[in-house]
Amino acid sequence: HSSLVFSSDDSASAASSMEVTDRIASLEQRVQMQEDEIQLLKSALADVVRRLNLSEEQQAMGSRRGPTKGNNEFMTGHDITSSLHHSYDACEPLSSSTKSVTALSPFISCVTFTSCCLNHRTLEQHLRCSLSVSGISLNCRLVTISSEGYVKMYLKGRPITMYMPKDQVDSYCLEARAELPCTKLKLDWVYGYRGRDCRSNLYLLPTGETVYFIASVVVLFNVDEQLQRHYTGHTDDIKCLAVHPDKITIATGQVAGTSSDGKQLAPHVRVWDSVSLNTLHVLGAGFFDRALVCLSFSKSNGGNTLCVVDDSNDHVLSVWDWQREDRLAEVKCSNESVFAADFHPTDSNIVVTCGKSHLYFWNLEKGMLVKKQGLFEKQEKPKFVLCVTFAENGDAITGDSSGNILVWGKGTQCSSQKVIGTNRISHVIQGAHEGSIFALCMLRNGTLVSGGKDRRLISWDGSYQQIQMVPELFGPIRTIAEGRGETVLIGTTKNFVLQGSLDGEFMPITQGHTDELWGLAVHPWKSQFLTCGYDRQVSLWDSSNHQLIWTKSMEDAAQSAGFHPTGAVVAIGTQIGRWLVLDTDSKDLVTVHTDGNEQLSVMRYGPDGNFLAIGSHDNYIYIYAVAENGRKYSRVGKCSGHSSFITHLDWSVDSQYLVSNSGDYEILYWIPSVCKQVVSVETTRDIEWASYTCTLGFQVFGLWPDGSDGTDINAVCRSNDKSLLVTGDDFGKVHLFSYPCSQFRAPSHVYGGHSSHVTNVTFLYDDSYLVSTGGKDMSVMQWRIV
Ligand SMILES: *[C@@H]1O[C@H](CO)[C@@H](O)[C@H](O)[C@H]1NC(C)=O
Ligand SMILES: *[C@@H]1O[C@H](CO)[C@@H](O)[C@H](O)[C@H]1NC(C)=O
Ligand SMILES: *[C@@H]1O[C@H](CO)[C@@H](O)[C@H](O)[C@H]1NC(C)=O
Ligand SMILES: *[C@@H]1O[C@H](CO)[C@@H](O)[C@H](O)[C@H]1NC(C)=O
Repeated sequence: HSSLVFSSDDSASAASSMEVTDRIASLEQRVQMQEDEIQLLKSALADVVRRLNLSEEQQAMGSRRGPTKGNNEFMTGHDITSSLHHSYDACEPLSSSTKSVTALSPFISCVTFTSCCLNHRTLEQHLRCSLSVSGISLNCRLVTISSEGYVKMYLKGRPITMYMPKDQVDSYCLEARAELPCTKLKLDWVYGYRGRDCRSNLYLLPTGETVYFIASVVVLFNVDEQLQRHYTGHTDDIKCLAVHPDKITIATGQVAGTSSDGKQLAPHVRVWDSVSLNTLHVLGAGFFDRALVCLSFSKSNGGNTLCVVDDSNDHVLSVWDWQREDRLAEVKCSNESVFAADFHPTDSNIVVTCGKSHLYFWNLEKGMLVKKQGLFEKQEKPKFVLCVTFAENGDAITGDSSGNILVWGKGTQCSSQKVIGTNRISHVIQGAHEGSIFALCMLRNGTLVSGGKDRRLISWDGSYQQIQMVPELFGPIRTIAEGRGETVLIGTTKNFVLQGSLDGEFMPITQGHTDELWGLAVHPWKSQFLTCGYDRQVSLWDSSNHQLIWTKSMEDAAQSAGFHPTGAVVAIGTQIGRWLVLDTDSKDLVTVHTDGNEQLSVMRYGPDGNFLAIGSHDNYIYIYAVAENGRKYSRVGKCSGHSSFITHLDWSVDSQYLVSNSGDYEILYWIPSVCKQVVSVETTRDIEWASYTCTLGFQVFGLWPDGSDGTDINAVCRSNDKSLLVTGDDFGKVHLFSYPCSQFRAPSHVYGGHSSHVTNVTFLYDDSYLVSTGGKDMSVMQWRIV
């Protein structure tokens, strides 16, 4: 085949082409060899399956005859090890059977084998031998069980040995089926709003609900009744939202995502009914490329068309007949960012888009979108045109990065052309704002309201203007919407939703974090929880009325949190080794300490309140003696033994022991009062743990999905009544398992809503609710257990 690539009459290249031919031949040979090897292994495994089947039957017959476990050092039929042990004592050549091996797939589906005589004592050894021979890094998992009562699981090829409690050694059966929990979760409340990097995403619906989104959830929030409903049809971050002129139908657009099994989740638009929350149409899966950022319904033709901008390189603008799910037109809009797209209010063939150095008036003619540029003429062209709205008479109004409001008149002067939507400026409000204007809103009574970076909310009534300042705490104005009666709604870039009136104050109705979120701690006896993250905000929430109790700014990005068992204080770990203790009631600082200079991933007080254990990324666990209800701290020592960073910690019920997990999947046990490691299995296997947040351990190993690399479960929490186990994973999912979770591949209820990794999950003190934090999506979700 090389002759196609290289010309043969050139001697130099002929020589090199020979080399290439040789190399290809040798590669082909190797591929063939590998294929043979695979074939051989498949045969061998089919043979194993057959023998296993046989041995299982024999065992079954044996047990029917009586409870003779005899000296069988293994216990279950699925325990390949035992069957092999019995079947292959001496080296036996591989069989040439070609039966399928699917029966064994839970154990071996992800392993690449090399041919190898089955003279090893166990298949486990055999598999490990294959692994080391092939030298391929694998995310494989093989669970085996031994007579000493431990289960061995492999994550990324590393064995993790987990001992079961002594009283389970005789009864435990690896192949028993774990049950799904009888309870389920229902999303009860979503804390937060995405204003930081999304636009035009806040509206009032006729139901009295305010609609907005965060993560992959659309929130419909009735402020008066303090009730939320949620539309959860999306599979990843929502970035745009539009309300139909009927005020009931809603369209939302999402970004491209990846599911836990590595599948691409296509960006798409969902059109749904805000009363029933039923999905009506799904548009553009397979057509859109990256992330939908602008979305708008037409107004004059009954709202039949929808325009969408994809945040791909070409920022493709497309227009859809959404009821027919039919694309009417598409065009490359700009190679630069597009911030808004909207239909003209009286001519549904006109779409206006604006963005970085552009303002375009598009005319939809016979399936084509024909562009007219906005002509700035004498007006200095702004770097960004950030928002657009329309006056009742059809004038387009834009806000830009120079702080100017420009009116693009109806253009009656163009007698030969269509009379609406011309591209000339008819009026200028120079320097309406200091800096960028992010939002414009035309109220029903014809008052224009503008807002932006300067946090000023200005209403324009003829020649009269009224100015209001949004307090600095709330941040710049991202979007403005008309509220109920005389009220106005504001979304800010600091992720607040504010409600107020043009001549009164604005109060937050929703608030949240503004950067990656990790720390979560539940109050030991109140329905409160605390969150903290890289935005340096620590917030204490009341889960019963969904209100923020207090929030406090810190100097450093926060990583972790834990309440003292009395609830009087809470310890906060930061990213730089510093940790502090706050008074829960007054939020006053109680004390500050520093241990190491790395991220403190866990802060956990012992159940008796006399010790605090701090797990650090520097591989140490720092232990402090605690006195005066969490007001006095003295360092006891630092536990060293882990060879990777500490990920999770739990205390024993009697506060005498500590168990820790690390980044290299180690499980270590400690006597914290003396910082001594405990290696005796007999001591550790029966310890009763006050909490279960460690991701590795006999009681929880069933939570690991197939093919996991050991890093995709970030958090685990056992319910206080010890019946449930919840986990948060890297794919935005919350899983609910039955506890204990010590069967391979335990089944779970799975819940979406978060759009990035779920960084922590926890039950409230009375198990009434569960709280989860989404790292990059910055949302906090509260789930009811039903
Ligand atoms: C195991 O044995 C049973 C009964 O003898 C048979 O029906 C089944 O197909 C066998 N399974 C395999 C994988 O050979
Ligand atoms: C966009 O296109 C313009 C001209 O067509 C070019 O000058 C500019 O560099 C392009 N920008 C990007 C980000 O590709
Ligand atoms: C228009 O409506 C807003 C909000 O309801 C109100 O504050 C304002 O006074 C009204 N303006 C006029 C001129 O009626
Ligand atoms: C995660 O939540 C648990 C339960 O509240 C808490 O103990 C733990 O400290 C949290 N992890 C972090 C990093 O805050």
